[in-house]
Amino acid sequence: MGDRIRIFDTTLRDGEQSPGFTMNTEEKLEVARALEALRVDVIEAGFPISSKGDLEGVRLIAREIREVTIAGLARANRADIDAAIEGVREAARPRIHTFIATSPIHMEHKLRLTPAQVYEASVESVRYARRFVDDVEFSAEDASRSDFEFLCRVFEGAIAAGATTINVPDTVGYATPEEYAALIRSLIERIPNSDKVIWSVHCHDDLGLAVANTLAAIQAGARQVECTINGIGERAGNASLEEVVMALHTRRNRYKHDTGLDTAKIYRTSRLISAITGIPVQPNKAVVGDNAFAHEAGIHQHGVLANRETYEIMTPETIGIPSNKLVLGKHSGRHAFKNLLDQNGVRLPDAELQRAFEEFKALCDKKKQVTVDDILALAGGETRVTSETYELKAFHVSTGSTLSPTASITLVRGRDQFTQEATGDGPVDAMYNAINKIVGLSASLANFAIKAVTGGTDAVAEATVKVRDGDGLFIGRGTSTDVLEASAKAYLAAVNKLIHERQHWMTNVYG
Ligand code: KIV
Ligand code: ZN
Repeated sequence: MGDRIRIFDTTLRDGEQSPGFTMNTEEKLEVARALEALRVDVIEAGFPISSKGDLEGVRLIAREIREVTIAGLARANRADIDAAIEGVREAARPRIHTFIATSPIHMEHKLRLTPAQVYEASVESVRYARRFVDDVEFSAEDASRSDFEFLCRVFEGAIAAGATTINVPDTVGYATPEEYAALIRSLIERIPNSDKVIWSVHCHDDLGLAVANTLAAIQAGARQVECTINGIGERAGNASLEEVVMALHTRRNRYKHDTGLDTAKIYRTSRLISAITGIPVQPNKAVVGDNAFAHEAGIHQHGVLANRETYEIMTPETIGIPSNKLVLGKHSGRHAFKNLLDQNGVRLPDAELQRAFEEFKALCDKKKQVTVDDILALAGGETRVTSETYELKAFHVSTGSTLSPTASITLVRGRDQFTQEATGDGPVDAMYNAINKIVGLSASLANFAIKAVTGGTDAVAEATVKVRDGDGLFIGRGTSTDVLEASAKAYLAAVNKLIHERQHWMTNVYG
Protein backbone atom coordinates (compact mmCIF):
# COMPACT_ATOMS: atom_id res chain seq x y z
CA MET A 1 0.00 0.00 0.00
CA GLY A 2 3.00 2.27 0.68
CA ASP A 3 2.12 5.89 0.47
CA ARG A 4 -1.23 5.36 -1.15
CA ILE A 5 -4.00 7.49 0.28
CA ARG A 6 -6.96 5.43 1.50
CA ILE A 7 -10.33 6.92 0.72
CA PHE A 8 -12.79 6.48 3.60
CA ASP A 9 -16.21 7.50 2.36
CA THR A 10 -18.71 8.63 4.97
CA THR A 11 -21.50 9.76 2.62
CA LEU A 12 -23.79 7.12 4.13
CA ARG A 13 -23.04 8.16 7.72
CA ASP A 14 -21.88 11.77 8.18
CA GLY A 15 -23.55 12.72 4.88
CA GLU A 16 -26.78 10.85 5.39
CA GLN A 17 -27.27 12.10 8.96
CA SER A 18 -27.48 15.73 7.82
CA PRO A 19 -30.93 17.28 7.27
CA GLY A 20 -32.53 16.57 3.88
CA PHE A 21 -30.10 13.79 2.93
CA THR A 22 -31.95 10.86 4.45
CA MET A 23 -31.98 7.69 2.32
CA ASN A 24 -33.93 4.49 2.63
CA THR A 25 -32.22 1.11 2.81
CA GLU A 26 -32.51 0.36 -0.91
CA GLU A 27 -31.08 3.76 -1.78
CA LYS A 28 -28.19 3.27 0.64
CA LEU A 29 -27.36 -0.02 -1.03
CA GLU A 30 -27.45 1.65 -4.45
CA VAL A 31 -25.00 4.29 -3.18
CA ALA A 32 -22.77 1.62 -1.63
CA ARG A 33 -22.66 -0.20 -4.99
CA ALA A 34 -21.63 3.03 -6.71
CA LEU A 35 -18.92 3.62 -4.08
CA GLU A 36 -17.63 0.09 -4.59
CA ALA A 37 -17.48 0.72 -8.35
CA LEU A 38 -15.65 3.98 -7.62
CA ARG A 39 -13.18 1.82 -5.66
CA VAL A 40 -13.14 3.67 -2.36
CA ASP A 41 -11.25 1.78 0.36
CA VAL A 42 -13.75 2.07 3.20
CA ILE A 43 -17.48 2.73 3.25
CA GLU A 44 -18.80 3.99 6.57
CA ALA A 45 -22.25 2.53 6.12
CA GLY A 46 -24.01 4.02 9.15
CA PHE A 47 -24.30 4.38 12.91
CA PRO A 48 -26.09 1.15 13.86
CA ILE A 49 -27.15 2.10 17.41
CA SER A 50 -28.86 5.26 16.16
CA SER A 51 -31.91 3.56 14.58
CA LYS A 52 -33.26 0.26 13.31
CA GLY A 53 -33.05 1.66 9.79
CA ASP A 54 -29.36 2.44 10.20
CA LEU A 55 -28.63 -1.01 11.56
CA GLU A 56 -30.57 -2.64 8.71
CA GLY A 57 -28.73 -0.49 6.13
CA VAL A 58 -25.29 -1.37 7.53
CA ARG A 59 -26.18 -5.04 7.69
CA LEU A 60 -27.42 -5.14 4.10
CA ILE A 61 -24.39 -3.27 2.78
CA ALA A 62 -22.03 -5.53 4.77
CA ARG A 63 -23.70 -8.56 3.20
CA GLU A 64 -23.75 -7.29 -0.39
CA ILE A 65 -20.57 -5.24 -0.83
CA ARG A 66 -17.62 -7.57 -0.88
CA GLU A 67 -14.73 -5.55 -2.29
CA VAL A 68 -14.60 -2.73 0.23
CA THR A 69 -14.07 -2.48 3.99
CA ILE A 70 -17.40 -1.75 5.68
CA ALA A 71 -17.28 0.37 8.81
CA GLY A 72 -19.97 0.84 11.45
CA LEU A 73 -19.77 3.82 13.79
CA ALA A 74 -20.02 3.41 17.57
CA ARG A 75 -19.57 5.72 20.54
CA ALA A 76 -17.02 4.48 23.05
CA ASN A 77 -19.33 2.15 24.96
CA ARG A 78 -20.23 -1.53 24.77
CA ALA A 79 -23.86 -1.12 23.67
CA ASP A 80 -22.83 0.97 20.65
CA ILE A 81 -20.02 -1.41 19.77
CA ASP A 82 -22.33 -4.42 20.06
CA ALA A 83 -24.76 -2.76 17.62
CA ALA A 84 -21.94 -1.89 15.22
CA ILE A 85 -20.67 -5.48 15.37
CA GLU A 86 -24.18 -6.66 14.62
CA GLY A 87 -24.17 -4.36 11.57
CA VAL A 88 -20.81 -5.32 10.06
CA ARG A 89 -20.77 -8.97 11.15
CA GLU A 90 -21.26 -10.37 7.65
CA ALA A 91 -18.82 -8.02 5.91
CA ALA A 92 -15.88 -9.49 4.03
CA ARG A 93 -13.76 -6.81 5.69
CA PRO A 94 -15.50 -5.41 8.79
CA ARG A 95 -14.30 -2.34 10.66
CA ILE A 96 -15.52 -0.83 13.92
CA HIS A 97 -15.10 2.92 14.14
CA THR A 98 -15.36 4.01 17.74
CA PHE A 99 -15.12 7.60 18.95
CA ILE A 100 -15.26 9.87 21.97
CA ALA A 101 -14.75 13.60 22.34
CA THR A 102 -11.45 14.80 23.83
CA SER A 103 -11.79 18.61 23.83
CA PRO A 104 -12.38 20.35 27.17
CA ILE A 105 -15.66 21.88 25.99
CA HIS A 106 -17.08 18.53 24.81
CA MET A 107 -15.85 16.57 27.83
CA GLU A 108 -17.23 19.07 30.32
CA HIS A 109 -20.51 20.19 28.73
CA LYS A 110 -21.55 17.30 26.50
CA LEU A 111 -20.11 14.15 28.05
CA ARG A 112 -19.80 15.41 31.65
CA LEU A 113 -16.77 13.18 32.01
CA THR A 114 -13.32 13.89 33.41
CA PRO A 115 -10.28 13.48 31.12
CA ALA A 116 -9.36 10.35 33.09
CA GLN A 117 -12.79 8.83 32.35
CA VAL A 118 -12.49 9.72 28.66
CA TYR A 119 -9.06 8.09 28.55
CA GLU A 120 -10.45 4.97 30.20
CA ALA A 121 -13.45 4.78 27.82
CA SER A 122 -11.19 5.21 24.77
CA VAL A 123 -8.84 2.40 25.71
CA GLU A 124 -11.58 0.11 26.96
CA SER A 125 -13.74 0.57 23.84
CA VAL A 126 -10.86 -0.17 21.46
CA ARG A 127 -9.94 -3.24 23.50
CA TYR A 128 -13.57 -4.39 23.49
CA ALA A 129 -13.99 -3.86 19.72
CA ARG A 130 -10.78 -5.80 19.04
CA ARG A 131 -12.40 -8.87 20.60
CA PHE A 132 -14.64 -9.03 17.54
CA VAL A 133 -12.70 -7.52 14.61
CA ASP A 134 -9.07 -6.96 13.66
CA ASP A 135 -9.74 -3.59 12.09
CA VAL A 136 -10.59 -0.91 14.66
CA GLU A 137 -10.53 2.82 14.01
CA PHE A 138 -10.47 5.21 16.93
CA SER A 139 -11.48 8.89 16.59
CA ALA A 140 -10.99 11.67 19.10
CA GLU A 141 -13.95 13.88 18.34
CA ASP A 142 -13.07 17.60 18.28
CA ALA A 143 -9.39 16.62 18.25
CA SER A 144 -8.34 19.96 16.73
CA ARG A 145 -9.63 21.80 19.84
CA SER A 146 -8.23 19.29 22.31
CA ASP A 147 -5.27 19.69 24.62
CA PHE A 148 -2.27 18.33 22.73
CA GLU A 149 -0.71 16.43 25.67
CA PHE A 150 -4.03 14.80 26.51
CA LEU A 151 -4.66 13.89 22.87
CA CYS A 152 -1.24 12.21 22.67
CA ARG A 153 -1.99 10.19 25.80
CA VAL A 154 -5.39 9.06 24.49
CA PHE A 155 -4.03 8.10 21.07
CA GLU A 156 -1.07 6.26 22.57
CA GLY A 157 -3.47 4.31 24.78
CA ALA A 158 -5.81 3.53 21.90
CA ILE A 159 -2.92 2.23 19.78
CA ALA A 160 -1.65 0.09 22.62
CA ALA A 161 -5.19 -1.30 23.03
CA GLY A 162 -5.21 -2.41 19.38
CA ALA A 163 -6.50 0.46 17.22
CA THR A 164 -5.31 0.10 13.63
CA THR A 165 -6.38 3.53 12.37
CA ILE A 166 -6.26 6.76 14.36
CA ASN A 167 -8.54 9.54 13.16
CA VAL A 168 -8.00 13.19 14.08
CA PRO A 169 -11.27 15.00 13.31
CA ASP A 170 -11.60 18.73 12.86
CA THR A 171 -15.19 18.23 13.99
CA VAL A 172 -16.30 21.84 13.91
CA GLY A 173 -14.26 22.97 10.90
CA TYR A 174 -12.19 25.33 13.05
CA ALA A 175 -8.64 24.48 12.02
CA THR A 176 -6.57 26.26 9.39
CA PRO A 177 -4.38 24.26 6.99
CA GLU A 178 -1.07 25.24 8.66
CA GLU A 179 -2.36 24.48 12.14
CA TYR A 180 -3.93 21.21 11.16
CA ALA A 181 -0.83 19.99 9.29
CA ALA A 182 1.30 20.93 12.31
CA LEU A 183 -1.05 18.97 14.58
CA ILE A 184 -0.85 15.81 12.45
CA ARG A 185 2.93 16.10 12.11
CA SER A 186 3.43 16.63 15.86
CA LEU A 187 1.15 13.72 16.78
CA ILE A 188 3.04 11.36 14.49
CA GLU A 189 6.42 12.58 15.77
CA ARG A 190 5.47 12.65 19.42
CA ILE A 191 3.51 9.39 19.93
CA PRO A 192 6.00 6.52 20.41
CA ASN A 193 3.83 3.83 18.75
CA SER A 194 2.51 6.11 15.95
CA ASP A 195 4.13 3.97 13.23
CA LYS A 196 1.81 1.06 14.11
CA VAL A 197 -1.28 2.74 12.68
CA ILE A 198 -2.67 4.57 9.68
CA TRP A 199 -3.25 8.24 10.46
CA SER A 200 -6.56 9.53 9.27
CA VAL A 201 -8.18 12.95 8.93
CA HIS A 202 -11.82 14.00 8.97
CA CYS A 203 -12.50 17.65 8.18
CA HIS A 204 -15.69 19.67 8.28
CA ASP A 205 -16.25 22.66 6.05
CA ASP A 206 -17.56 25.35 8.39
CA LEU A 207 -14.93 27.82 7.17
CA GLY A 208 -14.73 26.35 3.67
CA LEU A 209 -11.33 24.81 4.57
CA ALA A 210 -12.17 21.10 4.71
CA VAL A 211 -10.41 20.16 1.47
CA ALA A 212 -7.44 22.46 2.12
CA ASN A 213 -7.05 21.02 5.63
CA THR A 214 -7.27 17.47 4.28
CA LEU A 215 -4.58 18.10 1.67
CA ALA A 216 -2.33 19.84 4.22
CA ALA A 217 -2.74 16.84 6.54
CA ILE A 218 -1.70 14.46 3.76
CA GLN A 219 1.51 16.40 3.39
CA ALA A 220 2.04 16.04 7.11
CA GLY A 221 1.68 12.24 7.04
CA ALA A 222 -2.04 11.36 7.01
CA ARG A 223 -2.73 8.33 4.82
CA GLN A 224 -6.48 7.97 5.17
CA VAL A 225 -8.89 10.77 4.31
CA GLU A 226 -12.52 10.80 5.35
CA CYS A 227 -14.79 12.52 2.89
CA THR A 228 -18.19 12.49 1.23
CA ILE A 229 -19.55 12.69 -2.29
CA ASN A 230 -20.52 16.29 -3.14
CA GLY A 231 -19.13 17.27 0.28
CA ILE A 232 -22.44 16.51 2.00
CA GLY A 233 -22.40 16.18 5.78
CA GLU A 234 -23.14 17.82 9.11
CA ARG A 235 -23.74 21.61 8.87
CA ALA A 236 -21.51 22.95 6.06
CA GLY A 237 -20.54 19.40 5.14
CA ASN A 238 -17.39 17.27 5.03
CA ALA A 239 -14.36 17.40 2.77
CA SER A 240 -15.61 16.64 -0.71
CA LEU A 241 -14.29 13.33 -2.03
CA GLU A 242 -14.13 14.48 -5.62
CA GLU A 243 -12.20 17.64 -4.75
CA VAL A 244 -9.61 15.86 -2.62
CA VAL A 245 -9.14 13.07 -5.14
CA MET A 246 -8.91 15.36 -8.16
CA ALA A 247 -6.46 17.66 -6.35
CA LEU A 248 -4.22 14.64 -5.69
CA HIS A 249 -4.67 13.44 -9.25
CA THR A 250 -4.27 16.76 -11.08
CA ARG A 251 -1.44 18.00 -8.86
CA ARG A 252 0.38 14.69 -8.55
CA ASN A 253 3.59 16.63 -9.27
CA ARG A 254 3.08 18.30 -5.88
CA TYR A 255 1.37 15.70 -3.67
CA LYS A 256 3.00 12.56 -5.12
CA HIS A 257 0.31 10.24 -3.75
CA ASP A 258 -2.12 7.96 -5.51
CA THR A 259 -5.54 6.80 -4.50
CA GLY A 260 -7.05 3.57 -5.77
CA LEU A 261 -10.05 5.46 -7.13
CA ASP A 262 -11.55 5.03 -10.59
CA THR A 263 -11.94 8.76 -11.25
CA ALA A 264 -14.11 8.10 -14.32
CA LYS A 265 -16.92 7.08 -11.95
CA ILE A 266 -16.88 10.34 -9.97
CA TYR A 267 -19.46 12.21 -12.02
CA ARG A 268 -22.07 9.51 -12.03
CA THR A 269 -21.67 8.88 -8.29
CA SER A 270 -22.13 12.59 -7.65
CA ARG A 271 -25.29 12.62 -9.80
CA LEU A 272 -26.59 9.51 -8.09
CA ILE A 273 -26.41 11.18 -4.67
CA SER A 274 -28.12 14.25 -5.99
CA ALA A 275 -30.84 12.19 -7.72
CA ILE A 276 -31.50 10.05 -4.66
CA THR A 277 -31.59 12.92 -2.17
CA GLY A 278 -33.27 15.36 -4.54
CA ILE A 279 -30.67 17.98 -3.61
CA PRO A 280 -28.98 19.45 -6.68
CA VAL A 281 -25.24 20.02 -6.95
CA GLN A 282 -24.55 23.75 -7.03
CA PRO A 283 -23.67 24.75 -10.63
CA ASN A 284 -20.27 26.22 -9.72
CA LYS A 285 -19.27 23.30 -7.47
CA ALA A 286 -15.64 22.34 -8.09
CA VAL A 287 -15.16 19.22 -10.23
CA VAL A 288 -18.80 18.09 -10.54
CA GLY A 289 -20.88 21.28 -10.91
CA ASP A 290 -22.63 21.90 -14.23
CA ASN A 291 -20.34 24.86 -14.90
CA ALA A 292 -17.09 23.17 -13.86
CA PHE A 293 -16.15 22.58 -17.49
CA ALA A 294 -18.33 25.23 -19.19
CA HIS A 295 -16.52 28.07 -20.91
CA GLU A 296 -18.79 31.04 -21.33
CA ALA A 297 -16.58 34.03 -22.06
CA GLY A 298 -15.64 34.39 -25.73
CA ILE A 299 -11.95 34.72 -24.94
CA HIS A 300 -12.04 31.49 -22.95
CA GLN A 301 -13.95 29.66 -25.68
CA HIS A 302 -11.40 30.80 -28.20
CA GLY A 303 -8.55 29.56 -26.02
CA VAL A 304 -10.17 26.18 -25.36
CA LEU A 305 -10.87 25.65 -29.04
CA ALA A 306 -7.22 26.40 -29.85
CA ASN A 307 -5.93 24.21 -27.00
CA ARG A 308 -8.06 22.80 -24.17
CA GLU A 309 -5.28 23.23 -21.64
CA THR A 310 -5.49 27.03 -21.89
CA TYR A 311 -8.40 26.95 -19.46
CA GLU A 312 -8.85 23.28 -18.48
CA ILE A 313 -6.57 21.77 -15.85
CA MET A 314 -8.36 18.43 -16.02
CA THR A 315 -10.57 16.92 -18.68
CA PRO A 316 -14.26 16.19 -18.20
CA GLU A 317 -13.54 12.63 -19.37
CA THR A 318 -11.25 12.02 -16.37
CA ILE A 319 -14.20 12.26 -14.02
CA GLY A 320 -16.58 10.59 -16.47
CA ILE A 321 -18.65 13.53 -17.63
CA PRO A 322 -20.55 12.22 -20.64
CA SER A 323 -19.95 14.21 -23.81
CA ASN A 324 -23.13 16.10 -24.51
CA LYS A 325 -23.28 15.88 -28.27
CA LEU A 326 -26.11 14.33 -30.27
CA VAL A 327 -25.31 10.63 -30.33
CA LEU A 328 -28.58 8.78 -30.74
CA GLY A 329 -31.69 9.50 -32.75
CA LYS A 330 -35.03 8.00 -33.69
CA HIS A 331 -33.38 5.40 -35.91
CA SER A 332 -31.07 4.11 -33.19
CA GLY A 333 -31.73 0.62 -31.94
CA ARG A 334 -31.96 -0.87 -28.48
CA HIS A 335 -28.40 -2.17 -28.71
CA ALA A 336 -26.91 1.30 -29.31
CA PHE A 337 -29.10 2.69 -26.55
CA LYS A 338 -27.87 0.04 -24.10
CA ASN A 339 -24.29 0.65 -25.21
CA LEU A 340 -24.58 4.33 -24.40
CA LEU A 341 -25.95 3.57 -20.94
CA ASP A 342 -23.12 1.07 -20.35
CA GLN A 343 -20.54 3.70 -21.33
CA ASN A 344 -22.03 6.00 -18.72
CA GLY A 345 -21.99 3.36 -16.04
CA VAL A 346 -25.76 2.82 -15.99
CA ARG A 347 -26.90 -0.80 -15.82
CA LEU A 348 -30.62 -1.50 -15.89
CA PRO A 349 -32.51 -4.78 -15.55
CA ASP A 350 -34.20 -5.83 -18.82
CA ALA A 351 -37.69 -4.56 -17.98
CA GLU A 352 -36.33 -1.17 -16.94
CA LEU A 353 -34.10 -0.99 -19.99
CA GLN A 354 -37.13 -1.63 -22.19
CA ARG A 355 -39.13 1.06 -20.39
CA ALA A 356 -36.29 3.60 -20.77
CA PHE A 357 -35.84 2.66 -24.45
CA GLU A 358 -39.53 3.17 -25.18
CA GLU A 359 -39.43 6.55 -23.44
CA PHE A 360 -36.35 7.45 -25.47
CA LYS A 361 -38.17 6.60 -28.72
CA ALA A 362 -41.14 8.70 -27.63
CA LEU A 363 -38.75 11.54 -26.79
CA CYS A 364 -37.16 11.38 -30.26
CA ASP A 365 -40.61 12.13 -31.72
CA LYS A 366 -41.02 15.16 -29.48
CA LYS A 367 -37.58 16.69 -29.36
CA LYS A 368 -35.23 17.74 -32.16
CA GLN A 369 -32.01 16.87 -30.38
CA VAL A 370 -31.76 14.11 -27.83
CA THR A 371 -28.62 14.47 -25.75
CA VAL A 372 -26.76 12.08 -23.47
CA ASP A 373 -28.04 14.05 -20.48
CA ASP A 374 -31.63 13.55 -21.69
CA ILE A 375 -31.06 9.83 -21.98
CA LEU A 376 -29.41 9.56 -18.59
CA ALA A 377 -32.33 11.47 -17.09
CA LEU A 378 -34.73 8.94 -18.65
CA ALA A 379 -32.66 6.03 -17.43
CA GLY A 380 -32.56 7.51 -13.95
CA GLY A 381 -36.35 7.90 -13.85
CA GLU A 382 -38.37 5.96 -11.40
CA THR A 383 -38.38 2.43 -12.61
CA ARG A 384 -39.20 -0.38 -10.25
CA VAL A 385 -42.48 -1.45 -11.74
CA THR A 386 -44.39 -4.21 -9.95
CA SER A 387 -48.01 -5.32 -10.09
CA GLU A 388 -48.62 -2.99 -7.12
CA THR A 389 -47.17 0.06 -8.85
CA TYR A 390 -49.41 2.82 -10.13
CA GLU A 391 -48.41 4.16 -13.53
CA LEU A 392 -49.55 7.33 -15.23
CA LYS A 393 -51.71 6.49 -18.24
CA ALA A 394 -53.20 9.87 -19.13
CA PHE A 395 -53.83 13.29 -17.70
CA HIS A 396 -55.78 16.37 -18.60
CA VAL A 397 -55.38 19.73 -16.93
CA SER A 398 -57.36 22.93 -17.42
CA THR A 399 -56.08 26.10 -15.87
CA GLY A 400 -55.85 29.81 -16.57
CA SER A 401 -55.94 33.18 -14.87
CA THR A 402 -59.75 33.09 -14.55
CA LEU A 403 -60.20 29.34 -14.06
CA SER A 404 -59.95 27.18 -11.01
CA PRO A 405 -57.24 24.61 -11.91
CA THR A 406 -58.78 21.19 -12.50
CA ALA A 407 -57.02 17.92 -13.32
CA SER A 408 -58.22 14.57 -14.50
CA ILE A 409 -55.76 11.70 -13.97
CA THR A 410 -55.88 8.14 -15.22
CA LEU A 411 -53.60 5.61 -13.54
CA VAL A 412 -53.12 1.92 -14.18
CA ARG A 413 -52.09 -0.71 -11.67
CA GLY A 414 -51.63 -4.16 -13.13
CA ARG A 415 -54.80 -4.73 -15.17
CA ASP A 416 -56.85 -2.12 -13.34
CA GLN A 417 -57.47 1.41 -14.53
CA PHE A 418 -58.60 4.32 -12.35
CA THR A 419 -59.65 7.86 -13.24
CA GLN A 420 -60.33 10.76 -10.87
CA GLU A 421 -60.77 14.50 -11.11
CA ALA A 422 -59.78 17.13 -8.60
CA THR A 423 -59.20 20.85 -8.23
CA GLY A 424 -56.24 22.51 -6.58
CA ASP A 425 -54.38 25.74 -5.86
CA GLY A 426 -52.52 25.30 -9.14
CA PRO A 427 -52.36 22.71 -11.93
CA VAL A 428 -49.74 20.58 -10.15
CA ASP A 429 -51.71 20.68 -6.90
CA ALA A 430 -54.85 19.63 -8.81
CA MET A 431 -53.01 16.67 -10.35
CA TYR A 432 -51.63 15.60 -6.98
CA ASN A 433 -55.08 15.81 -5.41
CA ALA A 434 -56.48 13.60 -8.19
CA ILE A 435 -53.66 11.08 -7.64
CA ASN A 436 -54.34 11.11 -3.89
CA LYS A 437 -58.00 10.32 -4.54
CA ILE A 438 -57.06 7.28 -6.61
CA VAL A 439 -54.42 5.85 -4.30
CA GLY A 440 -56.38 6.74 -1.15
CA LEU A 441 -53.63 8.79 0.47
CA SER A 442 -53.16 12.34 1.59
CA ALA A 443 -49.40 12.38 1.83
CA SER A 444 -47.84 15.74 2.67
CA LEU A 445 -45.61 17.28 0.05
CA ALA A 446 -42.33 18.28 1.73
CA ASN A 447 -40.57 19.64 -1.32
CA PHE A 448 -41.08 20.16 -5.03
CA ALA A 449 -38.40 21.18 -7.54
CA ILE A 450 -38.27 21.21 -11.31
CA LYS A 451 -35.34 21.83 -13.61
CA ALA A 452 -34.56 21.64 -17.32
CA VAL A 453 -32.01 18.92 -18.01
CA THR A 454 -30.88 20.59 -21.23
CA GLY A 455 -31.47 23.99 -22.83
CA GLY A 456 -34.26 25.10 -25.20
CA THR A 457 -38.03 25.21 -24.93
CA ASP A 458 -38.20 21.51 -25.88
CA ALA A 459 -35.84 20.57 -23.03
CA VAL A 460 -36.50 17.51 -20.91
CA ALA A 461 -37.80 18.64 -17.53
CA GLU A 462 -36.87 16.71 -14.41
CA ALA A 463 -39.18 17.07 -11.43
CA THR A 464 -38.19 15.94 -7.95
CA VAL A 465 -40.67 15.72 -5.11
CA LYS A 466 -40.33 14.70 -1.50
CA VAL A 467 -43.37 13.29 0.24
CA ARG A 468 -43.54 12.91 3.99
CA ASP A 469 -45.37 10.12 5.78
CA GLY A 470 -44.75 10.24 9.53
CA ASP A 471 -40.99 9.90 9.94
CA GLY A 472 -40.50 8.62 6.39
CA LEU A 473 -39.43 10.83 3.52
CA PHE A 474 -40.00 9.47 0.02
CA ILE A 475 -38.30 11.00 -2.98
CA GLY A 476 -39.64 10.63 -6.48
CA ARG A 477 -38.33 11.81 -9.80
CA GLY A 478 -40.03 12.12 -13.15
CA THR A 479 -38.87 13.30 -16.53
CA SER A 480 -40.75 14.48 -19.60
CA THR A 481 -40.67 17.26 -22.16
CA ASP A 482 -43.94 18.32 -20.51
CA VAL A 483 -43.43 19.88 -17.06
CA LEU A 484 -46.87 18.78 -15.83
CA GLU A 485 -46.27 15.20 -16.91
CA ALA A 486 -42.82 15.25 -15.23
CA SER A 487 -44.44 16.60 -12.05
CA ALA A 488 -47.15 13.93 -12.03
CA LYS A 489 -44.63 11.14 -12.65
CA ALA A 490 -42.38 12.39 -9.85
CA TYR A 491 -45.23 12.50 -7.35
CA LEU A 492 -46.42 9.09 -8.41
CA ALA A 493 -42.91 7.67 -8.00
CA ALA A 494 -42.74 8.98 -4.43
CA VAL A 495 -46.23 7.71 -3.67
CA ASN A 496 -45.37 4.26 -5.07
CA LYS A 497 -42.34 4.12 -2.76
CA LEU A 498 -44.50 5.13 0.19
CA ILE A 499 -47.06 2.43 -0.61
CA HIS A 500 -44.30 -0.13 -1.08
CA GLU A 501 -42.75 0.81 2.28
CA ARG A 502 -46.11 0.56 4.08
CA GLN A 503 -46.74 -2.86 2.57
CA HIS A 504 -43.23 -3.99 3.50
CA TRP A 505 -43.88 -2.80 7.06
CA MET A 506 -47.25 -4.58 7.21
CA THR A 507 -45.63 -7.79 5.97
CA ASN A 508 -42.90 -7.52 8.59
CA VAL A 509 -45.35 -6.82 11.38
CA TYR A 510 -48.22 -9.16 10.47
CA GLY A 511 -46.30 -11.76 8.45
O1 KIV B 1 -16.93 15.07 12.88
C1 KIV B 1 -16.62 14.15 13.64
O2 KIV B 1 -15.87 14.31 14.62
C2 KIV B 1 -17.18 12.84 13.39
C3 KIV B 1 -16.65 11.70 14.19
C4 KIV B 1 -17.70 10.73 14.56
C5 KIV B 1 -15.52 11.05 13.44
O3 KIV B 1 -17.99 12.69 12.50
ZN1 ZN C 1 -17.95 14.40 11.08
